Amino acid sequence: MKRLFIILSIILLINSYYANSQIEYSVDKWMEYVEELALETEDTERIESLYADLSYLTEHPFDLNAVTEEQLKRLPFLSDRQIEQLLSYRKRYGNMVSIYELKNIEDIDVSGKRVLVRCDFNVPQNKETGEITSDKRIVAALPTIKYLLENGAAVIACSHLGKPKGEWKESLSLAPVAKRLSELLGMDVIFAKDIIGEDAKAKAAALQPGQLLLLENLRFDKREEKNGADFAEELAKMADVYVSDAFGTVHRAHASTAGVAAFLPAYAGFLVEKEISVMGKALSDPARPFVAILGGAKVSDKIGVINNLLEKADTIIVGGGMAYTFKMAQGHTIGKSLLEADRVEYAKEMMDKAAAKGVKLLLPVDSICAAEFAKDAAPVEAGEDIPEDLMGMDIGPKTVEMYKDAVKGAGTVVWNGPMGVFEFASFNKGTFAMAEAV
Ligand code: 3PG
Repeated sequence: MKRLFIILSIILLINSYYANSQIEYSVDKWMEYVEELALETEDTERIESLYADLSYLTEHPFDLNAVTEEQLKRLPFLSDRQIEQLLSYRKRYGNMVSIYELKNIEDIDVSGKRVLVRCDFNVPQNKETGEITSDKRIVAALPTIKYLLENGAAVIACSHLGKPKGEWKESLSLAPVAKRLSELLGMDVIFAKDIIGEDAKAKAAALQPGQLLLLENLRFDKREEKNGADFAEELAKMADVYVSDAFGTVHRAHASTAGVAAFLPAYAGFLVEKEISVMGKALSDPARPFVAILGGAKVSDKIGVINNLLEKADTIIVGGGMAYTFKMAQGHTIGKSLLEADRVEYAKEMMDKAAAKGVKLLLPVDSICAAEFAKDAAPVEAGEDIPEDLMGMDIGPKTVEMYKDAVKGAGTVVWNGPMGVFEFASFNKGTFAMAEAV
């Protein structure tokens, strides 16, 4: 019987590009070293080979498996033990290990240390009451937090919630998360009223081993999403060690997910490690046919993923807002649908690459549209060309049938992102039909 790995996530990002920011970080670090070395040494052969390794890594950021042992040995910041570890991780998990993720929290003694843990507490809430409607993400963070607390660390947890875009919004405060966290752990959770302000700093400084502090929503500060070095440094100053455990967010190069690792020794938490192991196995040795379903709003969020999947998948299904940039690239009219004009060329390249590699890249042939982006907008069916006054909100019935056929008999399905605006009942059919089909 065929092995069937179904790795399904509709909202939560589950793809391989989570490693991107970490790898970029490693490559940047490497680049700095090589540049400094180039000024000091006359050994041009060595410098050229280091540059060659760097350019390989830059072009193949997801394919660390292909980095040779020799190349690894040339990495100046890896000890022999880390190289050994990388090789053994690679054996266990396939190629989804970045240099950064070599170390997990069991590799250090956290006792007596202040540990900054980036979690993904981006939980769904009832808009009116603010009540948390699913605490899955909080529960998922517990193994790492508990391990750290039990091993004598003072834990400073941090997360974003929603998209406040640098504005202070009461409705997006992490206070309800602190409460839920405290109920789940059966202990007090100290909550800071700010992120790197006086309150957070004082509470972090007074934090004792075995105590847990949660900072306020990181995205209340603009510098978080801009990966502001000063913001990352201030965050780092509160702790001795950084732990990355926000699996749904590690693909973002933000101050708390990427920048902070430049200021503190960085380790992967259990959640990130677990996902690497599952995804690593599924992607390094997928049962075929391997079908990838990509959705969500933006092509730009998925660049590394599409390129990477074209090397591995047999079929790639594209839905959601990002599909319309591809439709535009095909020469169709897309009305008022989401368009990333600066990615049309990229979409063309990806379609050409798919054709050259014999990968089926499936795009919607019809859409459910609306005149405006609203919950109560009337759904209107459109074919491949969308009239000027409409925007695509979901895949249409013909597309649903085509996509359902494509997942039939798949050995591995990787799903990232919804097929339409699934938050609105009139435009969730495509996403739910695919969920059922999978
Ligand atoms: C998510 O819900 O997908 C993660 O928490 C990341 O959130 P973001 O898309 O707002 O960065």
